[in-house]
Amino acid sequence: MSVDDGVISVRGLAMGFGDRVVVRDLDFTVRRGDVYVVMGPSGCGKTTLLRHLLGLQEPAAGEVRYGAEPFTAAPPEVRERLLRRVGVLFQGAALWTSMTLAENVALPLEQFTALPPDAIREVVRLKLALVGLGGFEGLYPWELSGGMQKRAGLARAIALDPEILLIDEPSASLDPPTARRLDALILQLRDALGTTAVVVTHDVATILGIGTRALFLDAERGRAVAEGPPAELRTTGPPEVRAFFGGGAVPP
Ligand SMILES: Nc1ncnc2c1ncn2[C@@H]1O[C@H](COP(=O)(O)OP(=O)(O)OP(=O)(O)O)[C@@H](O)[C@H]1O
Ligand SMILES: [Mg+2]
Repeated sequence: MSVDDGVISVRGLAMGFGDRVVVRDLDFTVRRGDVYVVMGPSGCGKTTLLRHLLGLQEPAAGEVRYGAEPFTAAPPEVRERLLRRVGVLFQGAALWTSMTLAENVALPLEQFTALPPDAIREVVRLKLALVGLGGFEGLYPWELSGGMQKRAGLARAIALDPEILLIDEPSASLDPPTARRLDALILQLRDALGTTAVVVTHDVATILGIGTRALFLDAERGRAVAEGPPAELRTTGPPEVRAFFGGGAVPP
């Protein structure tokens, strides 16, 4: 991969449902080490974009690449191989409620590796410790606070040492201090594991706090209207983007 190749490249992507195209002409590149933010008001297509990155939805036009490799046009076995490099945290953590935290995190390891049970237990212990949940192996998701559930979801997302983490609305339904701690954890994991992150959010504090670059989707126009470092977009972006950031009312 050359320096210019993105970890993820999106070219000419149009997304829709049936005949209705929601967003078109998406072009952006996520580079190694980025915390790449996809932002915009509710309903603008953020989650839909994540689904396209995962092949859960097919584009109306355009393509997604992982590194130099085409993803959208690839056969299922190639897509599967490319997605092995990707860890996902969906909105709401989506843990199995009938399984302990350890069992939840062990699941992808049992499914995709040939590690013996002892080694899996050790990896699970390590991943839970990495997200600040060391010692909570035996608890069930419903015994945890919202913030802890998201941490557990992150532990599961990093179980297979992904190069890329896709995270949908990390701070949704968390109180601000808990949300900021989760933001810090995302940065910590990026640094400790060398991952690249794509974070979908409309939380301005998260965007300014951890985003290296951001893409703003505008539902009304059905396209991206700005792309760049969040702090720059906030001050010099188009009016709707500045308004989204609070019209400059956010202290520097
Ligand atoms: N399965 C579907 N069928 C038809 N339209 C859909 C479907 N899922 C989403 N949409 C529409 O696509 C648009 C984008 O939805 P999406 O869930 O991607 O928005 P979002 O930016 O993630 O919003 P939020 O911030 O509320 O999570 C919305 O107008 C929504 O109504
Ligand atoms: Mg969404």
